[in-house]
Amino acid sequence: MAGDLAVIDLAPPPDDYAQALLEGFAGPQRRIPCRFLYDDEGSRLFERITELPEYYPTRTEMGLLSAHAREIAKLAGPKVEVVELGAGASRKVRLLLDALEAPAGYLGIDVARTALTEACTALARDYKSMKVRALVADFTDVDRLPPPNGWRLAFFPGSTIGNFPPEQAAGLLDRWRRLLAGSDMVIGVDLQKDPSVLLPAYDDAAGVTAAFNLNLLARANREAGADFDLAGFRHVVHYEPALGRMSLYLESLRDQQVAIAGRPFRLDAGERIHTEDSWKYTLDGFRDLVTRAGFEHLRAWTDDRLRFSLHYLRGRL
Ligand code: AVI
Repeated sequence: MAGDLAVIDLAPPPDDYAQALLEGFAGPQRRIPCRFLYDDEGSRLFERITELPEYYPTRTEMGLLSAHAREIAKLAGPKVEVVELGAGASRKVRLLLDALEAPAGYLGIDVARTALTEACTALARDYKSMKVRALVADFTDVDRLPPPNGWRLAFFPGSTIGNFPPEQAAGLLDRWRRLLAGSDMVIGVDLQKDPSVLLPAYDDAAGVTAAFNLNLLARANREAGADFDLAGFRHVVHYEPALGRMSLYLESLRDQQVAIAGRPFRLDAGERIHTEDSWKYTLDGFRDLVTRAGFEHLRAWTDDRLRFSLHYLRGRL
């Protein structure tokens, strides 16, 4: 226990960045898995991204939550336990908790123990009648949950689902539907739109997203025995409208050789390391995806510029 907070530890063993880099550099398309974006520095930079004028998702989703929390609360009913997948700064979930009728509890799930326990401690302080629990676990991998504290409502904001390819996203949602034993879910999803809005959101004028991306190389130098020269790479984004896929890369500015854990790799000028995809959906496309995952799609809300969407899904067993 940490104060009033129950901490349940199902943390996976530490991720081996050197190993992941060696695997990602083994094929012709060099890759770094996007989960490595979020070390302390990366998480700090991501918080700054959410406040950028170009990065519309966070503020649009907050607006949707504020506008529709009462309707969500009605659909969810009284005394639910909110289960947050990838619990972050907990700003968004407060909008939900404030609207719900007598929420019975909050279960936050995240691998980042310190950030999770800090967020949960603050929630336990501010929502005294609620049982707050922190589950330190990888929400993409967890296969059991602590016993429920009443009927559950899962909360999966931020369009994090968009960082998985659609088939994997459907698989993850299907697994969560089973884990939640038929409980409902509120999920935030970014929408397909004009590239003139999308591209700057991932390539902002202040260069924060570039720094967030380049931090993967700095982190490799810190943790994986690599010797990347950060000045030898630039942040590049590409949007594929037919797929709704935003892709992030680090492009080599010259022919160069880098070492990772003592192994040399050649990179040609213009060669790109793929670092992240962020899939965008149409409303119909996302409805199809959640239906494939076994949910009943009850409601979708969007802002007036159709930038972002919030969905209420009914869980089914
Ligand atoms: C966390 N995830 C939903 C963000 C996104 O928009 O795909 C990560 C991000 N990458 C660059 N900017 C934001």
